Amino acid sequence: MWTSLGARSESAGPRAASGRLWAVVLGAAASFFLLGFLIGTVRTNPPSHRGLVQPANAARSRGWFAKPTDQKTSLSTHEDMRTAFMAEMKAENIKQFLYNFTRLPHLAGTKENMHLAQQIQAEWKKFGLDSVQLVHYDVLLSYPDDTKPNYISIIDEHGNEVFNTSLSEPPPPGYEAVADVVPPYNAFSAQGVPEGELVYVNYGRTEDFFTLERDMGINCTGKIVIARYGKIFRGNKVKNAELAGAKGIILYSDPADYCAPGVDPYPNGWDLPGGGAQRGNVLNLNGAGDPLTPGYPAKEYMYRLDKSSGVGLPKIPVHPIGYHDAESLLRNMGGPAPPHSSWKGNLNVSYNVGPGFTEDHSSRKVKMHIHSNNEVRRIYNVIGTIRGTVEPDRYVILGGHRDSWVFGGIDPQSGAAVVHEIVRSFGKLRNEGWRPRRTVIFASWDAEEFGLLGSTEWAEENAKVLQARGVAYINADSSVEGNYTLRVDCTPLMYSLVYSLTKKIPSPDEGFEGKSLYESWYKKNPSSEYKEVPRIKKLGSGNDFEAFFQRLGIASGRARYSKNWNVEKYSSYPVYHSVYETYEIVEQFYDPTFKNHLTVAQVRGGLVFELANSVVLPFDCRDYASAVSNYAHIIYNLSRNHEEELATYSVSFDALFSAVKNFTEVAASFHERLQQIDLNNLLAVRSLNDQLMFLERAFIDPLGLPGRPFYRHVIFAPSSHNKYAGESFPGIYDAMFDIESKADQREAWEEVKRQISIAAFTVQAAADTLKEVA
Ligand SMILES: *[C@@H]1O[C@H](CO)[C@@H](O)[C@H](O)[C@H]1NC(C)=O
Ligand SMILES: *[C@@H]1O[C@H](CO)[C@@H](O)[C@H](O)[C@H]1NC(C)=O
Ligand SMILES: *[C@@H]1O[C@H](CO)[C@@H](O)[C@H](O)[C@H]1NC(C)=O
Ligand SMILES: *[C@@H]1O[C@H](CO)[C@@H](O)[C@H](O)[C@H]1NC(C)=O
Ligand SMILES: *[C@@H]1O[C@H](CO)[C@@H](O)[C@H](O)[C@H]1NC(C)=O
Ligand SMILES: *[C@@H]1O[C@H](CO)[C@@H](O)[C@H](O)[C@H]1NC(C)=O
Ligand SMILES: *[C@@H]1O[C@H](CO)[C@@H](O)[C@H](O)[C@H]1NC(C)=O
Ligand SMILES: [Zn+2]
Repeated sequence: MWTSLGARSESAGPRAASGRLWAVVLGAAASFFLLGFLIGTVRTNPPSHRGLVQPANAARSRGWFAKPTDQKTSLSTHEDMRTAFMAEMKAENIKQFLYNFTRLPHLAGTKENMHLAQQIQAEWKKFGLDSVQLVHYDVLLSYPDDTKPNYISIIDEHGNEVFNTSLSEPPPPGYEAVADVVPPYNAFSAQGVPEGELVYVNYGRTEDFFTLERDMGINCTGKIVIARYGKIFRGNKVKNAELAGAKGIILYSDPADYCAPGVDPYPNGWDLPGGGAQRGNVLNLNGAGDPLTPGYPAKEYMYRLDKSSGVGLPKIPVHPIGYHDAESLLRNMGGPAPPHSSWKGNLNVSYNVGPGFTEDHSSRKVKMHIHSNNEVRRIYNVIGTIRGTVEPDRYVILGGHRDSWVFGGIDPQSGAAVVHEIVRSFGKLRNEGWRPRRTVIFASWDAEEFGLLGSTEWAEENAKVLQARGVAYINADSSVEGNYTLRVDCTPLMYSLVYSLTKKIPSPDEGFEGKSLYESWYKKNPSSEYKEVPRIKKLGSGNDFEAFFQRLGIASGRARYSKNWNVEKYSSYPVYHSVYETYEIVEQFYDPTFKNHLTVAQVRGGLVFELANSVVLPFDCRDYASAVSNYAHIIYNLSRNHEEELATYSVSFDALFSAVKNFTEVAASFHERLQQIDLNNLLAVRSLNDQLMFLERAFIDPLGLPGRPFYRHVIFAPSSHNKYAGESFPGIYDAMFDIESKADQREAWEEVKRQISIAAFTVQAAADTLKEVA
């Protein structure tokens, strides 16, 4: 796909860019030498031949020059500019930026994070962007009360607090004197001091509560539940606990989920220490952004809901603890044994489910003390742009958040440092006289940790312009969550671009010297759905692409370095959202040479470069057709667990398969036409590009999904049971979920039929946008 689209990239545009431009290209060759040198020296094994070959040969052997001898064409200009751009990015710079961004906590709504916004604004200007603005919003945030700490106790029959959980995490070495480390808390928890018997609910998933309530007959009403972190977004656990009637929920990190076997706790290793705890918000916003201004930007003039009726706020107290404290709470649990061995973690306790403690301790209860406050504070996005030459009214966006729970060593600064280096490199080319074909927008989002607030408010404020001009959004949170291989989640439109780009990037992995990133990625994580390509996953949510993709229908993607999911069973990465996410954990354990960070910069930056500068947009609509066809088969297969009801209620998927077939045919002929296009006919190019740009938009249903008006993509949505995961055909999926337990079967199956018809209509409508115009 690359070669055909690559060949399409011949610029009919500014051949005039001339003299200074060639200086950039020649500079690139020199930079390549440095890059080769860097790769040669940062490896732990002996330097390979790489550093010694001639720069041009080195570049060619990595496949970065498509046509090394044909330098007069503008194709080589595009290819060579990409080469120059890629070679400009340096691991050492990313390392320095990460160090700089992690000296202090940068909690959203604090002075420190405003100062970092101002610093980034100043540096992006210095790097050479055309304009860099701070864009503020006043949104609902949540903080612990300085005078009344949050904690959980065990109380005896007299109400004496015989055990208390710790009020803070022991600081990591070197950071003892840092002020303003916010203690572990769950942002937006309700206030309260509930007491009651404890019930252990495993991960607090929908299926865990089904097991408790339906199989074991355990009633959580009036109880305090304790769930281990992991598997799903914490806000879904809280929602499930509320629905089960719990009056409070404790979230804890079990060593089974937050310690890799054989690894020491930080600072000697990268496991979570027993005193560490995971912060995080517990909202169920479903894409609303600021809880007080759903759907609209939180500007000064905007009408605000009353704080008590904000969107997505939990109704019960929630608090996170580490595994040392959790062991004390779980030690004497009574009630039945865990229903299955999968309910047992790695603490030295029974994992009995409760409610309450064993006979000797049966008079004891658990009491939560939660006093956090929700308050409106100002947040700041940094928005920088480079104006495009030929199509300044087409936008490619690179965004990632800047706010962190504490130091943000991994989340988000390992990502923000990469964005900084990408901006610096674009700025360098821009200073030397080059501009991309389309406008590139760079964003440093605020308050991602409080519910994706900065990105969502900005998308709300600019929705009209974005839906008219937004080509693509690339997300840039944490660059590393492991050191095994690449991980990509993106729209099917970007599959071929991701594959072709990664074939042009050298693999940073040991044992893959001289091979491409694509090769090591494919070897380590092949797709299970498609033959002979690496795995790419669906976009879910839990990050700043949400408003762009799920609400506005802008083609989106994300990439980072990750762990080996088949073997490494711990959740996310062990120190996630704890005070132990420092610069040192990255520098000592995750990526000492920063070569993986550089690779992630090349992937994220390379995607932005190709999307912004290719004459024909590097989107392949045929891959969307295959994906939609696959999802249609998956949802149809799922329905076949209910053969009888399908017959009784005349449920048919025929219309959906008809639409999928039509989409597949239209996509194939669109692609044919794209191959025939006259690249000198700017209007023709623009016309086909607009069809490609608006394809993702065509999957948006303006009415949104049932009960979730801001999730409007008909093909993808965050799972209703786990915000982090992507669900395909979510409308149909949710209508069929647990359908056998619905009281009115006819009504339930009528809703399934309605959802199938909406899916069929939307796929057909999207196909219609790809048809030949006249
Ligand atoms: C981070 O880098 C900026 C720009 O070089 C500098 O002004 C600032 O002092 C640095 N901050 C820290 C905490 O080192
Ligand atoms: C727990 O904290 C409360 C309130 O500060 C205090 O009264 C109580 O003595 C503490 N209990 C223990 C075991 O430290
Ligand atoms: C659970 O307990 C509450 C209050 O004790 C009661 O109202 C409710 O009906 C019970 N639920 C079930 C399913 O038994
Ligand atoms: C596990 O707990 C039991 C009882 O609380 C104790 O006797 C035993 O020594 C503990 N085992 C370990 C390995 O700590
Ligand atoms: C980095 O890779 C090594 C070698 O595969 C592995 O043993 C180690 O666990 C990895 N480190 C992290 C933080 O994942
Ligand atoms: C659907 O089920 C059929 C028959 O069991 C199977 O052959 C096919 O692979 C399944 N398709 C998907 C996408 O799961
Ligand atoms: C698919 O295309 C055929 C032929 O144009 C048309 O008859 C059919 O209605 C289309 N399917 C849907 C779901 O619109
Ligand atoms: Zn993050």
